[in-house]
Parts: sequence; structure tokens; C-alpha cells
Amino acid sequence: MAPSALTPETSPERKISVKKVAPQTRSHSSSVSSVASIRLNDGNSIPQVALGVYKAPNGQETEDAVTAALDAGYRHIDSAARYANEEACGRAIRRWLEKTGTPREDVFICSKLWDADHGYEATFNALCASLDKFGLDYLDLYLIHSPAEDEEKRLESWRALETAQRLGKVKSIGVSNFGAAHIESLLDNATVVPAVNQVEVHPFCQREALVELCNKNGIKIEAYSPLARGNKLEDPTIGAIAKKYNRTPAQILLNWNAARGNVVLPKSLTASRIQSNLESFDFQLSPEDVATINALGAENYVTGSMHKSKD
Ligand SMILES: NC(=O)c1ccc[n+]([C@@H]2O[C@H](COP(=O)([O-])OP(=O)(O)OC[C@H]3O[C@@H](n4cnc5c(N)ncnc54)[C@H](OP(=O)(O)O)[C@@H]3O)[C@@H](O)[C@H]2O)c1
Repeated sequence: MAPSALTPETSPERKISVKKVAPQTRSHSSSVSSVASIRLNDGNSIPQVALGVYKAPNGQETEDAVTAALDAGYRHIDSAARYANEEACGRAIRRWLEKTGTPREDVFICSKLWDADHGYEATFNALCASLDKFGLDYLDLYLIHSPAEDEEKRLESWRALETAQRLGKVKSIGVSNFGAAHIESLLDNATVVPAVNQVEVHPFCQREALVELCNKNGIKIEAYSPLARGNKLEDPTIGAIAKKYNRTPAQILLNWNAARGNVVLPKSLTASRIQSNLESFDFQLSPEDVATINALGAENYVTGSMHKSKD
């Protein structure tokens, strides 16, 4: 079997075959890839690659992108109430499930609670609204989108997520944009340890201390903006490594992240990129090249200050 960048914690029995594709960016003979799943601390499995849909409109363009992703082999969609596109995602997912006869359980769907809805009851109402928009009975993962300022309300929201999980409205629960202090406060107060912390992670923003804290507590890192929003695809170091492996810079960024065991959430509305991003994991960077990429790792955020925690 070809070496793969996907994490060693993947469960082979959950490997998903991806239909044969004609690679657009390389001439390698292998034309089949697979998306692995990772086991979360609650026993559920999460596909390691998701289609991110931040800034995707609530209409046909997003429906087409989600459909293209599912056709290509993605089995994980990362949306949020704040993205205001849960309806378009839901329409595309439900239509695709029906068309292909795929069981609902085979697609992993994540949404997030927005800051304005923190608090116990407000969290339930927001979750119900998200489920309505998706047209689904449950979500696979529901995250507190950001810690916001009010710790008491944040902890109430977490208790609501714990209850929602017990009721089967969400399979797994987690957080996003939590820094070390937010994680520690949550661990001191929570009954359920978050399954994931979704934060900005890519070679130019590695957040080593936070990643280590999460790993130590069994909290999986979901790397958002794994392509650094497209802002680092011209970087000469990444470019040279891409050339060496006959890959695109985007594929190098995604491969590096997945090899660390992180879930990656590349966003694209372009069918060819949706496809080529999925073909990023069937090769292994050499230890020397990984070390070169690791050396790029200043705390270089490409997302707004809203999402920067102090730690
Ligand atoms: N929890 C949070 O607070 C948070 C914050 C940010 C992001 N996220 C999640 O993470 C996902 C990804 O992050 P992101 O959207 O910020 O940025 P990203 O995935 O790092 O980059 C997306 C940008 O890269 C372009 N792109 C995609 N594939 C490409 C390729 N192969 N070659 C060249 N350009 C390519 C896309 O353009 P096209 O669409 O035109 O192809 C888009 O402009 C989001 O969609 C969201 O699901 C979460």
C-alpha cells in the first residue's frame, strides 16, 4: 500500500473508497485515494478531511460544491450557523443521500453555535434552528464556535451541548477557537471532555503549545484555514517542496497537517480544487521536508483578530 499522510490513529475498517479520478496536477500512476477516519475520545469516528464552507453562499453554488465533494469521496461537511448556508448544505446532502442510497450515518455533518446564542436555553434553540435548516434529525458534531467573553454563559452552553448529546441530537460535541485558558476552565467544569478544538493551524500558524495541551487531554485538533486562505500558496519553501513531489502547494499544506493527525477542513467552491485537495494524502513527506516546513511555523494568523486567543 502506498505510504499515506493520514494519521496512524485511523481505523482501517472505516476507510472510504473514493471513485477513480484522473489526477489533474500530477502524472502519478495511482488514481485512487481514500479518506480515513479518526477515532474521537467519545468513541465516534470522524472523517479526517472535510469540505469547509465558510463564505459559501446559501444557494446553488454551495449545493453544487457539496455535491461535488460527496461525489469525489468527502464524507464530512463543516458548516456553522454563522455561515448562513446550513439550508444549502442540507439540501445538497439530503438530495445526495437519496440519489445514491447512502445511509445518513455515512456522512458526517458539523455545525457551530454562534456567540450570540450562548446560554443554556439559547443554545438549545440555536441547535434546533440549525437542525431545521439542515433538515436533519441530528448532527454528528456541534461546536461552540468561539469562547466569547462571558465564561458563565459559555459553561451553560457547554452543559446544553452535554444534554443535547445525551438526547441524541448531536453525536459528538466540541469547541472552536478555544485557547489554553478556555480549555482548562472547561475541563475544570465539564462532565464531557470536548472531542475536538477547531482552530487555525497550518505551517505558518502551528500553535504548538495549544495543540500539545489538546493532544494531552484527548481533544482532537481540527485545523481550519489549512490552506492559509490561499495566501501562502506562492511561498517559495512550499513551492520548492511541491515541485519536488510533483504536487501542488495546496496538497503539501494539507498533507503536512493530516500527517500530524489533525482533521483538515479545506474550503473550496471549485470542483477541480475540491477534487485535488482530496488527493493530498497518498504520499509521505520526508522527515527533512517536514522539518523544513516545521521551521516556517511563526504564529502567523490569516484569519481575523476575532479568532485569536491570547494563548
Ligand atoms: N471555527 C472557525 O472559527 C473557523 C474559522 C475559519 C475557517 N473555518 C472552517 O475551515 C474551513 C477552511 O478555512 P478557510 O475557508 O478560512 O480557508 P482555507 O480552506 O484555508 O482556504 C480557502 C481558500 O483557498 C482557495 N482554495 C481552495 N483549494 C485551493 C487549491 N487547491 N488551490 C488554490 N486555492 C485553493 C479557496 O478558493 P475557491 O473556493 O475559490 O476554490 C478559498 O479562497 C472553513 O470553510 C470553515 O469550514 C472555521
